[in-house]
Amino acid sequence: MARGIYYRWWSHRARVESMLDFVYGNGEEGSPESVLKAVDKCGWNYSPLMCVGDVKGLILDNIVIHHKPKVVVELGGHFGYSAIRIARLLDEDAKLYSIEISPLCVAISRELIRFAGLSNKCTVVLSSSSKAIMELKEKYGIEHVDLLFIDHVGKLYLPDLRLMEEEGLIKRGSVVVADKVHYNFVVDYLAYTSNENRIYKSALHETYLQYSTKLRDAIQVSVHN
Ligand SMILES: C[S@@+](CC[C@H](N)C(=O)[O-])C[C@H]1O[C@@H](n2cnc3c(N)ncnc32)[C@H](O)[C@@H]1O
Repeated sequence: MARGIYYRWWSHRARVESMLDFVYGNGEEGSPESVLKAVDKCGWNYSPLMCVGDVKGLILDNIVIHHKPKVVVELGGHFGYSAIRIARLLDEDAKLYSIEISPLCVAISRELIRFAGLSNKCTVVLSSSSKAIMELKEKYGIEHVDLLFIDHVGKLYLPDLRLMEEEGLIKRGSVVVADKVHYNFVVDYLAYTSNENRIYKSALHETYLQYSTKLRDAIQVSVHN
C-alpha cells in the first residue's frame, strides 16, 4: 500500500519534472504560446499530464475571447497550464485567481506563469477551494466572478459552485466552465446546472480527455440566468 502511494507520487512528480525540463529547453521565456506548445508536445508524445490540454483548451479559448472576463477564478490550478492558457487572452485590466491545494503544484505554477510572462495577470492562491472561496471578497476584493473554471475534484464541483453562489460571487451573465464532467462523473453538478432548473443556461461540449484520441469526455459551459 505505502509502496503504491510512494510510486504514484514519484511517478507524478517525475512526469511534472520532465515536463518542466522540456518547457525550459523548448519554450521561450515571456512567450505563453511557446510554453503551451511545449507542454502540449510533452502531453501528446512523452507523458500523460493532468492539464486541460490543447483540444479542450480551444473550447476554453473561445469562451475567454467571446466573454472577455475581467475577473476569472479557477478551482484546481495544478502546474499552471490552464492559468497561462486563459491569462494570455485576458485584457490588461483583467485578473485570474488560480486556487490550488498542493504546495508543490503552487510553486511550480507560479514559476511556469513567471516564465510565460504572465505573473502580472495571475495570482496563485495556495488553499483548499472552499476556504479560498470564502476569502475571495475580503482578501482579494473580488465582488463578482465573470468566469469560473472548475477543474479540481469531482465531488466538490457542486458544493463549491453553491458556495460561490452563497457568497454572492456568481451574478447574471457569469460563465461557469466545468472540465472533465464525464471523467469525474459529476451527475449532481450536471443535474443542478441543467437547463430544466433555469438557474443556468448550459451547453455540453463533447470532446476527448486531454492528450487522448480514444477516451471521451466533455466540458460543460453554463451561463447564469
Ligand atoms: C486536473 S488538475 C487541474 C488542471 C489545471 N486546471 C490545468 O488545466 O492546467 C486538478 C488540481 O486540483 C487540485 N485540487 C484538488 N482538490 C482541491 C481542492 N479542494 N482545492 C484546490 N485544489 C484542489 C489538485 O491538487 C490538482 O492540482
